[in-house]
Amino acid sequence: MTASESTGTDRVALAFSGGLDTTVCVPLLEDEYGYDQVIGVTVDVGQPEAEFAEARETAEALDVEHHVVDARAEFADLCLRSVQANATYQGYPLGTALARPIIATAIREVADAEDCVALAHGCTGKGNDQLRFEAVWRDTDYEVVAPVRELGLTREWENDYAAERGLPVEGGAAGRYSIDANLWSRSIEGSELEDPATVPEDDIYEWTASPGREPELLELTFEDGEPVALDGDPMDPVELVETVNEIAGAHGVGRTDMMEDRMLGLKVRENYEHPAATVLLTAHEALEQLVLTYEERAFKSQVDQQWAHKAYQGLIDAPFVEALEAFLGSTQERVTGTVTVKLEGGGCRPVARESAYAVYSERAASFNEEDVGGGITQEDATGVAKYHGFQSRLANSAIERGRDRDTE
Ligand code: ARG
Repeated sequence: MTASESTGTDRVALAFSGGLDTTVCVPLLEDEYGYDQVIGVTVDVGQPEAEFAEARETAEALDVEHHVVDARAEFADLCLRSVQANATYQGYPLGTALARPIIATAIREVADAEDCVALAHGCTGKGNDQLRFEAVWRDTDYEVVAPVRELGLTREWENDYAAERGLPVEGGAAGRYSIDANLWSRSIEGSELEDPATVPEDDIYEWTASPGREPELLELTFEDGEPVALDGDPMDPVELVETVNEIAGAHGVGRTDMMEDRMLGLKVRENYEHPAATVLLTAHEALEQLVLTYEERAFKSQVDQQWAHKAYQGLIDAPFVEALEAFLGSTQERVTGTVTVKLEGGGCRPVARESAYAVYSERAASFNEEDVGGGITQEDATGVAKYHGFQSRLANSAIERGRDRDTE
């Protein structure tokens, strides 16, 4: 029995935020696509409370069935997995990218339970999110519908359509930007920010205050590469990220204004805020500096980059990622200890670190100790120093000899 036979209606599950794009999708899915019923699904990945109220009210006004799925714990776990990979893409800590596979999967589960025939999103045909959603959805038998992309809609058209139809959308400054916020980052796009030469007004930021506070120290405790406590208080991942967002945000930590290379090749100007991500990534890397060997760090930075790239693509399920994580996992056992960071002037930097696994010998490095330890003394470096650069010297004299011969 197909879904439509069982219910007598063709239902479509729509990724729904209550924002402009997904709001106009509702009447379009009914009128233009002919679906009988739209089910709006909002997945909770830690976006601000106000967004749920907005989604709920908009769904009510549109008279669509509305589901909210709580995926915060799962999302926070993934964010912390990304910390083990020191994951950023061109400087962006990947909040939107990490959330998409989780949101897409949650929506598919609602569609299964509600006998839907189709899955829909309100992404444009220019961005990354369409690819990330559909990477999950195209693995199913559902019809996949993307009204904004397929009907070639612009934000201006959507605003006019919403006004004409009396659809509930936020006007004014709040509706000016395209915002995507979750536990890990808040992105602000659109309007005057589309001109990379425009300096943003401070009011685009909601999580980060303009710096001006007295500096503050935070101590993070890591176990197996995962942050587990703040200033000695154990916290679960959601609580930890929320608390650090609050504290570091008040110091103006974690603003990024960047040019980003999207998957389709477009360059876009992006503004992000991500206080907790900045603090946790900074602290984690500081601990790795203490406990990992030179080769491990050098190779891991390549593995980290590959991991971040797959995460940016929304392809965290790829077997390649599992293989990368096998390497990451074997390095993280020793990433256990504490790091103190200083929040100051909108920045965050490590100022102290400690671990039982430190690959560090004070005796070896100290200016006050004559010998190195392990039966090695300073004088033993004399032979090394004589050899250092030997091959370059050989090569340079060979080059000189060659030139002399040529000019003879
Ligand atoms: N460029 C980022 C990404 O692809 C964030 C996009 C956020 N979307 C938005 N409507 N502000 O991950």
